[in-house]
Amino acid sequence: MQIERFTKVQVDALLPGRKPETSKNDYGRVWAFCGSSGYTGAPYFAAQGAVRMGSGIVTLAVPADIYPILAVKLNEPVIYPYTEDSWQDALHRAERSAACLIGSGLGHFAAFRELTLTALTSLPCPIVLDADGINALGGHIDKLCSTAYPVVLTPHAGEFSRLTGIDHPTAEDAAAFAMRYGCVLLLKGHRTVVAAPDGTVTCNTTGNPGMAKGGSGDVLAGMILSLIGQGLRPADAARVGAWLHGRCGDVCANRLSEYGMTPTDMLSVLPEVLHEYN
Ligand code: APR
Ligand code: MG
Repeated sequence: MQIERFTKVQVDALLPGRKPETSKNDYGRVWAFCGSSGYTGAPYFAAQGAVRMGSGIVTLAVPADIYPILAVKLNEPVIYPYTEDSWQDALHRAERSAACLIGSGLGHFAAFRELTLTALTSLPCPIVLDADGINALGGHIDKLCSTAYPVVLTPHAGEFSRLTGIDHPTAEDAAAFAMRYGCVLLLKGHRTVVAAPDGTVTCNTTGNPGMAKGGSGDVLAGMILSLIGQGLRPADAARVGAWLHGRCGDVCANRLSEYGMTPTDMLSVLPEVLHEYN
């Protein structure tokens, strides 16, 4: 199997420019279902990942019990509360989005499985599944075959193993999964791999162990969401997102050390990293 190294040249070519005569509507309205009781960091990181990546409008839908917390933490996103009785309404509203992220920190919401599985068959836009959005597929993995719009999965090795039963997954496993289920599979790790349904596999070379901290993955999910909303093909969004995310990690490690850097720091340097392109 051929694994291409993804490069800065490709990021330069794929990153969409911003034209003068445009408005926020031209940069994607994106939606995220993230967070639940106890997980108030993941929705923050994912939503800010999308904001800092350049989205026009980010809506963050969260369970009502954590709504007051996120409403204080975040300024740019619209925060939309939902409950066990009203998540269908939230899903209905998400239908107008350019792309939707489901999962980061969602697992303590009682209906997270129903929400995720319903979204897969009802949302008329690409979907990014992260963390508990991936866990929700347990036993329903074939649902991926019947979606009308592209799906991107962003598991780390443990999440991929739980879903497939494959321990210590390799790039070959990622490729086989992407082709079999017709989705984009971004397998996170030291060298993140992105496999597309057409059989292409790329390896990311940015990033460092300073990123091995809770919250890093949520930032990446939000960045990929944003890039899809700005018009990148899902596989390209995953590849560009992983590259830039790793660059943020590398800038932070240089300045702050691999020990001390945080996902919050990675969000802070994303604008500087974006200056390196176009
Ligand atoms: N080198 C380069 N990149 C790394 C390294 C490394 N050694 N270690 C981690 N990373 C990157 C990964 O590639 C990925 O982009 O950091 C990110 C980590 O993402 P996740 O594994 O999804 O971690 P995160 O979701 O932020 O936090 C851990 O996952 O297992 C669940 O519930 C658990 O809350 C926990 C969460
Ligand atoms: Mg994660």
